[in-house]
Amino acid sequence: MSFNIAIDGPAGAGKSTIAKQLAKKLNFIYVDTGAMYRALAYYFLTRQISITSVEEVAKVVEEAKVEIAYENNKQQVILNGENVTNYLREENVGEAASVTSAYGCVRNHLLNLQQDLAAKKDVIMDGRDIGTCVLPEAPLKIYLTASSHTRAKRRYDELIQKGEHPDFDEIEAGIKERDERDMNREIAPLKQAEDAILVDSSSMTIEEVVQTIYKLAKERM
Ligand code: DC
Repeated sequence: MSFNIAIDGPAGAGKSTIAKQLAKKLNFIYVDTGAMYRALAYYFLTRQISITSVEEVAKVVEEAKVEIAYENNKQQVILNGENVTNYLREENVGEAASVTSAYGCVRNHLLNLQQDLAAKKDVIMDGRDIGTCVLPEAPLKIYLTASSHTRAKRRYDELIQKGEHPDFDEIEAGIKERDERDMNREIAPLKQAEDAILVDSSSMTIEEVVQTIYKLAKERM
């Protein structure tokens, strides 16, 4: 049987950075479910589907075949045979993913793929509903969070490093808006599973968070 670790939490909490490092340390596969939602959002945007209309999205969602592959241990998202990984981190794709991931047809379309991956391999899977809906039986569930100010600061620093000129207040407002949508949707909202362990990374280093979760995993394996 595979051993799975579920990591949920709001945007910018450091889930993917932490999960990638942990996967390496534990020799597990890292599964980024946000990238799958982003791939569907990318599909809707390129097809010029009105993403605020659940009916329009429902009409085409079955046409979008999402597959996951690994290249040098890095997850690649294949959309209808094309590797779209490099297009998924754009702000507008994340926004559209936050809107369309609220729809039941979109969530159902990805659920089997996520559960199949976890059934076959030891995975660390991150997202919003992994502990609550996708892998409710996972032996280790983490709810990783940080204050909106800290998360905005991390994103701000990232953009500065890229040579951009971001506005801090705009970033923080965007993060709060995303939280609001992800936490208050009807289907599979972001929330801490009852048996999840809360890790607040606001005043922790990446290494401290990795070490904390690594210890918890080792105790349960
Ligand atoms: O983690 P991320 O920023 O790549 O996720 C993009 C959006 O996808 C996020 O706003 C909410 C949605 N998402 C989700 O609803 N469920 C998941 N398991 C992962 C992501």
